[in-house]
Order: sequence, then C-alpha cells, then structure tokens
Amino acid sequence: MELVLATRNPHKLREFAPLLAPHTVIPLPDEVELPPETGDTFAENASVKARVAADATGKPAFADDSGIAAAGLGGRPGVRSARYAGENATDEENLAKLLREVPDDDRRVAYICAVAYAEPGGTLADVHVVEERCEGTLARDPRGDGGFGYDPAFLPADRDDDRTMAELTPEEKDAISHRGRAARAFLGWLDGERR
Ligand code: IMP
Repeated sequence: MELVLATRNPHKLREFAPLLAPHTVIPLPDEVELPPETGDTFAENASVKARVAADATGKPAFADDSGIAAAGLGGRPGVRSARYAGENATDEENLAKLLREVPDDDRRVAYICAVAYAEPGGTLADVHVVEERCEGTLARDPRGDGGFGYDPAFLPADRDDDRTMAELTPEEKDAISHRGRAARAFLGWLDGERR
C-alpha cells in the first residue's frame, strides 16, 4: 500500500522507505502544514502529525517522533531532544549540552522512537502507535562521523565492541536502533493484526 510520511525531513523518508518495503512511502505534499510538536510524549507528537497528514491527503499516513532520554536527568531531553540547547541549536550544540549535564555516576541513556499510523476520517483515538527503545550509555568523548544527532556519544548496550552509533554502518545501526525496531514493529502490525 501507499503510505504518506508526515515529515519535512528528507533523511526520514530515505531511512523509512527501505524499512517499510514492499509498501511505498510517499512524501507529504508541500501544501500540507504540520502542527508544531508541543506534546509531552513521543506518541502524542507522532499521533498528531499522522492524523493531520491522513486527513489532509485523504490517504493512510504515518509519522515518527524520536529523541534521547538520560536516566540521570529524569528522562531529559526527551521530546525536546532536537532543541535541547535552544530553538535553532545544531546537533553539536545539543550533544555538547548533554555531555555537560549528564551526571558522571549515571550515564545511562535510551533512544526512543514512536511511529503513529492514521487513516483518513478517524479521530486521535483511532491512531495506532508503536514505540521502541534502544538502550545505551553516554561516552565521555564523541567519536565517529556516521549517523546524526547524539550518535557520536551513544554507546549501544546491544554491542560489546565499544563503537558509538556514529561508528556503525547504516545496516548495523538499523538492526539495533529505536527507529529500526519501531519500523519493524509497525510493519509487522500493518501486515498482521491490522488486517
Ligand atoms: P525528531 O524526531 O525529528 O523530533 O528529532 C528528534 C531528535 O532526537 C533529533 O534531532 C536528534 O537530536 C535526536 N535523535 C533521534 N533519533 C536519533 C538517532 O537515531 N541518532 C541520534 N540522534 C537522534
């Protein structure tokens, strides 16, 4: 089936398209305006975007919302991950702030990704959401130039070779990442229980 991806981020379209094959992921038409992400949870933000996109296009749509949560900071930056160091902060500025603030005696972090699916004409309560996590710890010194965002300091718990997410190949990252896991859970639901 054809699925509209409710995002303005071309990286997400590129990442999700192969993960959701054989379904076809199509971009959100330019004229559709997405609401600002003001929710308190990843699920809420993803649901609102999917709902708006499905109703505006008249087609099934999905959206994701993701971020990083530090245990020693009570889950921050969480839904504010993209703008942790300020509204227009760069990835480097956000990561530098997290490295400054995370307590030395608790460096546990988790990536979280919610994927929401909506069909035209329903309500927010009809949106189906899956949420997946990827556990890890925050390295003291960032390294690697793959991935994006907090990847240079994210040491995934699922690997024991001491490489950061930014040192993994895209396939290695997909196999363990929050987004890879959420996409596979979504695909399983789409092709299974939803029918
Ligand atoms: P959003 O899902 O577009 O709202 O962006 C979430 C933010 O969380 C990104 O800007 C990154 O800062 C962070 N983030 C989400 N997923 C990843 C990832 O796979 N690697 C590194 N940072 C991520």
